[in-house]
Amino acid sequence: MTFPQIIQGGMGVAVSGWQLALSVSKRGQIGVVSGTALDLVITRRLQLGDPGGHLRRALAAFPNQDIANYVADRYFIEGGKAPDKPYKSKPIIDHNPRRRAQELLVVSNFVEVFLAKEGHDGLVGINYLHKIQTPTMPSIYGAILAGVDIIIVGAGIPLEIPGIIDRLVQHEPVEMKLHVKTTEGTRIDRITFDPKLIFEESRPPEKRPSFFPIVSSATLATLMVKKCDGGVNGLIIEGPTAGGHNAPPRGRPNLNEIGEPIYGPRDDIDLDSIGSHGIPFFLAGSYGSPDGLVRARAAGAAGIQVGTLFAFCEESGLRPDLKHETIAKCKAGTASVFTDPIASPTGFPFKVLSMAGTASEEDVYESRSRVCDLSYLREAFEKEDGTIGWRCSADDEKMYVRNRGKFEDTVGRKCLCNGLMANIGMGQLRKNNVEEVPLLTCGDGVSSILKIIKPGESTYSSSDVIDFLLNGSESSMTARATAHQATS
Ligand SMILES: Cc1cc2nc3c(=O)[nH]c(=O)nc-3n(C[C@H](O)[C@H](O)[C@H](O)COP(=O)(O)O)c2cc1C
Repeated sequence: MTFPQIIQGGMGVAVSGWQLALSVSKRGQIGVVSGTALDLVITRRLQLGDPGGHLRRALAAFPNQDIANYVADRYFIEGGKAPDKPYKSKPIIDHNPRRRAQELLVVSNFVEVFLAKEGHDGLVGINYLHKIQTPTMPSIYGAILAGVDIIIVGAGIPLEIPGIIDRLVQHEPVEMKLHVKTTEGTRIDRITFDPKLIFEESRPPEKRPSFFPIVSSATLATLMVKKCDGGVNGLIIEGPTAGGHNAPPRGRPNLNEIGEPIYGPRDDIDLDSIGSHGIPFFLAGSYGSPDGLVRARAAGAAGIQVGTLFAFCEESGLRPDLKHETIAKCKAGTASVFTDPIASPTGFPFKVLSMAGTASEEDVYESRSRVCDLSYLREAFEKEDGTIGWRCSADDEKMYVRNRGKFEDTVGRKCLCNGLMANIGMGQLRKNNVEEVPLLTCGDGVSSILKIIKPGESTYSSSDVIDFLLNGSESSMTARATAHQATS
């Protein structure tokens, strides 16, 4: 199968929502919705009154109306919740999930993909983080029911996913490994999901979406291709300058003078080896320019995956004030991105854009009480009696230690779940009406957004990004960026 040259990268939480993916797919490129925490996003959007009625339109198309109606009845608030009221919680998924938690995941993933695919024939992908294990199977099933074209999985080694996709398109029960931390290391348990939960009656098979893992080395690419036995249809090769989480450097971690991980020659990716598999591959991480696309194609790639340029465009889910502030910082030449080696409870380096009033500032973040109430990045651990418990290193330190964690693992950790929800204008309200603060991420090359913004304008669309990548001339666009900086 041949694919378009540009993948708009999946950006959580809901930065690449259905509106962005829809706009990119309509232009004939690959639009990708983020599949992270969609159950939370959909329940909060419903509590905000579902402006435009889009969610309710998608819910009406879900093939089990009892479940769709339950979700709408439980979370939708006509006209939106009162601004001084916190969001209602939704079930948290663990190794032994409640039926309602699984249903909500299936429905939410269906809704997001349904909306991104509405009214065109373009390709739509969905992006999951392999580190987040428990929601994965019901989420993939929901996306498949909505006809998703590509399932993209990063942040881990998703060897089991192609087999899971193969079974879910047939509506067959699936299982996957759950990594449980023990005092000695890790033990493997299994988690399961059965589509019979959603449909008791038998159903015809669904279309099998393509599967693209995101990897950061030729060794991992080879492992995925060989072990997945035909199940890998494309590869995304992501380097350490990309927005979001990054793979840690190979070997013993060393930090530079400001505390960022140092990447070296061992992290260079052998593209000849990647190309030798004969599978289309896309390069990600600072490839968002006409020149980047040409370089990628010259190296044998089918195209590029771009995140940062799309993150700040009009159709992205980021709060408009955060987009404006970022663009203003780029114009002023003060945009600064820090690769934080410890902020993310996943243990992967995470890029943080410095901005006043956000969790990038230590004093702002420190004023927040440590609490884990969204729990996507929790890890499973073995309790003293051998059963499974859950803990997050960004939670209250005492709680983490009580759950057999080490205090030192809590130091410098930040609650990404609540920060990322605040990024999209859905931050939880805490005591005294204090709202959770944003935690912005983007790639090292964020200032390139100035190359896209037309003279005299201060915003840009996803179409502008695509025109820039496909037809832009590097020299005139660089001149445009310089002019923006000179007039700021
Ligand atoms: C705001 C933002 C959020 C991101 N979130 C995710 C994510 O949830 N999952 C993922 O696999 N990649 C994520 N990424 C990475 C992008 O999908 C893409 O691979 C990357 O941005 C490409 O490099 P670039 O930032 O230099 O364009 C994110 C990137 C940004 C900018």
